[in-house]
Amino acid sequence: RSEPIEAPDLKSEAAKKVKIGIYFAVWWALNVVFNIYNKKVLNAFPYPWLTSTLSLACGSLMMLLSWATRIAEAPKTDFEFWKTLFPVAVAHTIGHVAATVSMSKVAVSFTHIIKSGEPAFSVLVSRFLLGETFPLQVYLSLVPIIGGCALAAVTELNFNMVGFMGAMISNLAFVFRNIFSKRGMKGKSVSGMNYYACLSMLSLLILTPFAIAVEGPQMWAAGWQTGLSQIGPNLVWWIAAQSVFYHLYNQVSYMSLDEISPLTFSIGNTMKRISVIVSSIIIFRTPVQPVNALGAAIAILGTFLYSQWSLIVETSTDCSKEALEQAD
Ligand code: 3PG
Repeated sequence: RSEPIEAPDLKSEAAKKVKIGIYFAVWWALNVVFNIYNKKVLNAFPYPWLTSTLSLACGSLMMLLSWATRIAEAPKTDFEFWKTLFPVAVAHTIGHVAATVSMSKVAVSFTHIIKSGEPAFSVLVSRFLLGETFPLQVYLSLVPIIGGCALAAVTELNFNMVGFMGAMISNLAFVFRNIFSKRGMKGKSVSGMNYYACLSMLSLLILTPFAIAVEGPQMWAAGWQTGLSQIGPNLVWWIAAQSVFYHLYNQVSYMSLDEISPLTFSIGNTMKRISVIVSSIIIFRTPVQPVNALGAAIAILGTFLYSQWSLIVETSTDCSKEALEQAD
């Protein structure tokens, strides 16, 4: 008797899994392409504050056009929405520009190895600033994450302090972005796609004056001449590609947040880093020492252990909430 009820359920469960699988594959592929073009641009035109601004500007323009042509429906927002979005945008801006500065100084793979340590920052911020506690296993998983990142950093052939600190600052900023955006997306009046569009626009407003102050038109004009003489008109296409792909991968990742829990998202994000690290090492022929690769592997393994333990904590919290609700 239960068959006719179960069959559609199983079907929709399978369809959901396929949908999430497609989101993940598209997200990782777009991210790999972004990282490659971003690094190609930074090698020829090393102005990360400008390229970060251009990627936000491009995304904002794409979304304004989509709303104007009704390809996407514009969100209904109020002052309260933008006020809640502001801290998210500040954190997004800092995390974005810091990661781009990092990639302008070190290999893409190194930036992403350090960025795979993001869960460690998440636990430390939650513990010391928000007073949350975690089971011992979660703290223990920080040992391989921190140890692996440290090993990869000390054995990195082209180590650069600004590059290292940029990736660390990006980690810290993105932990705050995730904490603030969890609050901001509650209630879900705005879809993931439109939430990210508004985030890009606000971040663009925040970043532009800083980009002008730190680098500025004079530096850009001089750098542009050098870049053009080395690469030719292709430089324009590379900048366009990194900007478009930056927006697209972030948009897809925020769209997937509508379907999955933040924890599944962070597992997906770690797997994304593996594809970026491997593909950038192959494409840019980055020299890697075995002990350096070992550090990266230990850090990533630590992130997986962290995800597994957090998943168990999340599931048991959900179960006890359910039990409490039933008892009520
Ligand atoms: C950026 O420029 O914002 C970073 O490359 C983002 O990195 P992530 O989305 O892989 O954390």
